[in-house]
Amino acid sequence: GAVVALVPAAGRGVRLAEAMPKAFVDLGGTSMLTRAVDGLLTSGAVDRVVVIVPAELCESTATALPPEVTVVAGGAERTDSVRAGLAAAPEADYILVHDAARALTPPALVAGVVDALRAGHCAVVPVLPVVDTIKSVDSDGRVTGTPERSGLRAVQTPQGFAADVLVRAYAASGELATDDAGLVERIGETVTCIDGHPLAFKITTPLDLTLARALVAEGAA
Ligand code: CTP
Ligand code: MG
Repeated sequence: GAVVALVPAAGRGVRLAEAMPKAFVDLGGTSMLTRAVDGLLTSGAVDRVVVIVPAELCESTATALPPEVTVVAGGAERTDSVRAGLAAAPEADYILVHDAARALTPPALVAGVVDALRAGHCAVVPVLPVVDTIKSVDSDGRVTGTPERSGLRAVQTPQGFAADVLVRAYAASGELATDDAGLVERIGETVTCIDGHPLAFKITTPLDLTLARALVAEGAA
C-alpha cells in the first residue's frame, strides 16, 4: 500500500519569534522543512511527500524542494493545514503526519511507524516518558489534580494512520486538536504507542532552536 507523508509547515512560529515562519528557519545551512522532508525520504518507507505551507510561500517552496514533493497551501489552524494535505493524498493507503518543527527526527523512527502500520495497527504514535510531574489546573491557576506520571507519555510525530481511519476522523470532527491521533481516539479507534526518540523533539522556543543548532553543528543530527 502507498505511504504518503503530510508535513504541516504552515504555522507562523509565534513562540519561536524568528523573522520568518518557523519551518523556513535555518539549521546549519538547511531549513527545518527541508530537513524534515529529507528525513522522511531517507527512511525509504515513504512513497510521496505533501508539504503544507503558508499560501504566499507555495511557489518558492516548490522550487526549493525535490520535484516529486507536492506543495499545498495551509490554513489558520494546524487541523486546517492537515485537512488541506489530506485532500492532496487521495491514493494513500497509509498516511503519516509529521511536523516540520520536528526537523531532526531520525529516519529510523519514520520507518518504525510504517512498520507498525504494516503490522496491522491502524493508528501509531511515537512517545517518550514524561520527565516533569504534570498537573491539571483551572483558569485561576489552582491545581485540580496530579495524574500519576508513570501513566503519562509525551507524544511526537510522525503519527501514522490507515488512510481510511484518518479520513473518517477528520470527517467526523469540526473541532481542533493538538495532534491527529486525538481525533482518531474520538471516533473510538485504538491508538498504539511505539518508542519515540529524543531527536524527534519539537522545535518550539528559542531554547529548542539553540539545542537544534548545537546538535547539527556537532554532527549529532
Ligand atoms: N502548523 C501548520 N498550520 C498551522 C499551524 C501549525 O501547518 N496553521 C504546523 C507548524 O508549521 C508546525 C506544526 O504544525 O510544523 C506544529 O505546530 P507548532 O509547533 O505549534 O508550530 P507553529 O504553530 O508554527 O508555532 P506557534 O504555535 O509557536 O506559532
Ligand atoms: Mg502552533
